[in-house]
Amino acid sequence: MAAQAVAVAILVLGAHKTPIVAGYNVSLLAYGQTGAGKTHTMLGAEGEHRGIIPRSIEQILQTVKETKENGWQYTLQASFLEIYNETIRDLLVPPKELEGKDYTIRQGENGMQSVADLKLFPVETKEDVGALMATAEKHKTVKGTDMNERSSRSHTVFQLRITATRQLRGDGPKQTLHGSLNLVDLAGSERLAKSCATGDRLKETQAINKSLSALGDVFTAISKKQSHIPYRNSKLTFLLQPCLSGDGKALVLMALSPAEGSAHESLCTLRFSSLISQCELGKATKHVANEGSEDKALPASGLKRPTTAPSAGLAKKGRA
Ligand SMILES: Nc1ncnc2c1ncn2[C@@H]1O[C@H](COP(=O)(O)OP(=O)(O)O)[C@@H](O)[C@H]1O
Ligand SMILES: [Mg+2]
Repeated sequence: MAAQAVAVAILVLGAHKTPIVAGYNVSLLAYGQTGAGKTHTMLGAEGEHRGIIPRSIEQILQTVKETKENGWQYTLQASFLEIYNETIRDLLVPPKELEGKDYTIRQGENGMQSVADLKLFPVETKEDVGALMATAEKHKTVKGTDMNERSSRSHTVFQLRITATRQLRGDGPKQTLHGSLNLVDLAGSERLAKSCATGDRLKETQAINKSLSALGDVFTAISKKQSHIPYRNSKLTFLLQPCLSGDGKALVLMALSPAEGSAHESLCTLRFSSLISQCELGKATKHVANEGSEDKALPASGLKRPTTAPSAGLAKKGRA
């Protein structure tokens, strides 16, 4: 499943040919029951089996190299966080430095959400990404918790922020594009009743289900074209708001387990997939700032795009 998922994702993200997310907020979410292959799809293993995170970044770095010749300068910065029990944890910071920290999400700067105090690391080579993934993996283990249990109950978000700048007409004003790529490994989608949770574990399971059901609520509201979309009902949906609104693009990968005993969960996953396929986000918005003017978002269609400008590779029709 993983190899095909990667191929599809890379294709849909347009990473196979065009400069990718400069100026756009794009997300890719892996959904499905625990054990179905979400983490494997996102992180993968060595070499040929590497997952979407390293592959996407490799594509972006390649594009950066190619479009530099056209005058574009890029800044790439990565962060990696976990949302566990509705609490954000920075996976790139050693756990002992996190004690007492409370990360909050702030509404949109340059059309993006930001998490206060979250560490951003520069990315210049694919080795940089490998090192960040290894660091996050090391920091995921929390004293006193079973890592597998925790990973099935938390969401992780790898974010790459991309700023592309160039001088217009030789000595003209500077133009800056802001975009982000958000690669999300969701918590297991198994049902609350089946997990037989009690006490603290129940609270945790409800929090996980709360954010997954909040994600479902957001997709439901979008599919019904409701005027109010409840992004703020969970940390996950608030964080991903720029990608899940008219401003952005989202792609959801469904991970299914072939085991017979998983048939019911697979059906639930497919129902969720059917809901998402009814969502239209509309045209993506490109976030452009020209020197001397207010930072603003322009609809992609209304933007006179230089032929060499980085552009979103996602399908124009905003299907989530
Ligand atoms: N396509 C695949 N090829 C090989 N192993 C896989 C594949 N998908 C999943 N696995 C393995 O199955 C197990 C469960 O997958 P994992 O990605 O951890 O599931 P999830 O994150 O959905 O709970 C892991 O040991 C993983 O390495
Ligand atoms: Mg996992």
